[in-house]
Amino acid sequence: MVELVSVMGGLLPFKQGNLNQTFKALVQPKGFNAPFSAIVKDLPIRELFNELVSFVVLRALGLPIPSVYLGMVGGETQHLSKAPSLGNGSKLVYVSEEIPSPSLKMAMGWRDGQSEEACMACLSKFVPQIACWDKLGELYAFDTWLANTDRNLGNIVFGGKGSDGEPKVWLIDHGRSFTGEAWKPGDLVPEKSFTNMLKVWATPFLTTVQKDLCLLSTEMFVENAKRIDVNEPIDFYTNAFGLSEADKVAAKNFLIVRLGKVSEHAKDALVMETIL
Ligand SMILES: Nc1ncnc2c1ncn2[C@@H]1O[C@H](COP(=O)(O)OP(=O)(O)OP(=O)(O)O)[C@@H](O)[C@H]1O
Ligand SMILES: [Mg+2]
Repeated sequence: MVELVSVMGGLLPFKQGNLNQTFKALVQPKGFNAPFSAIVKDLPIRELFNELVSFVVLRALGLPIPSVYLGMVGGETQHLSKAPSLGNGSKLVYVSEEIPSPSLKMAMGWRDGQSEEACMACLSKFVPQIACWDKLGELYAFDTWLANTDRNLGNIVFGGKGSDGEPKVWLIDHGRSFTGEAWKPGDLVPEKSFTNMLKVWATPFLTTVQKDLCLLSTEMFVENAKRIDVNEPIDFYTNAFGLSEADKVAAKNFLIVRLGKVSEHAKDALVMETIL
């Protein structure tokens, strides 16, 4: 499970087109490790649960994600309205190691409200760069499996092309996996199809060969995912955050049964139907 860190000094409000309360801060890990710069989010427990279970699963699958921690904030808790309290005046926040690169949205120069032509020009220039990433098919499969409904352009950190010619990508913001930030056990229907945002902004700009490769990857993903123990993080974080037994049972059943549906749903997300 994720490590605990202490959030040092002030929380610096940080806006890059994001909706939630997001901050930059220095955090101090346990032991003698040096403090590092991190992104801190003020999240309620269910969203924290979604983020932490997604992180554990993504790490186990070897998909690139910044390291994630649970942070304790002692002072300055007046900025935090959703984070759970620890009882001693401090609060528990979501912390991720800051990657020194912009989101794909920023890197593309995307402006909300821009014309349809400008959207298409941006996407047709940048999606082919992401399509060279050898894990794109696994991303389609992950978002389908965890029912992450929020893979927008701001939720991929993009570091351009590396020296090996591969794009550098980190996956962030999984607060809306498990169908959304405020799911109830009844929402977690394993057979149901949920919005995979990649279908909207990435699929229309992929070539047939790229889609075929992605499809092959989704099948490999399912085989790898079968080896992951999803019960352990779900048990741990439902207990840690005081979620109910019904929540725990529904979350486990959702991931275990839904894995058998991933190839079928991911295939649907890879079929070009509409352009924006
Ligand atoms: N670990 C990180 N490293 C670098 N940048 C990050 C990191 N985490 C978040 N960011 C930046 O902060 C922005 C907001 O983060 P995130 O999407 O997780 O928060 P959010 O408040 O849930 O956003 P929204 O509700 O708008 O999707 C991201 O688009 C990205 O630019
Ligand atoms: Mg986001």
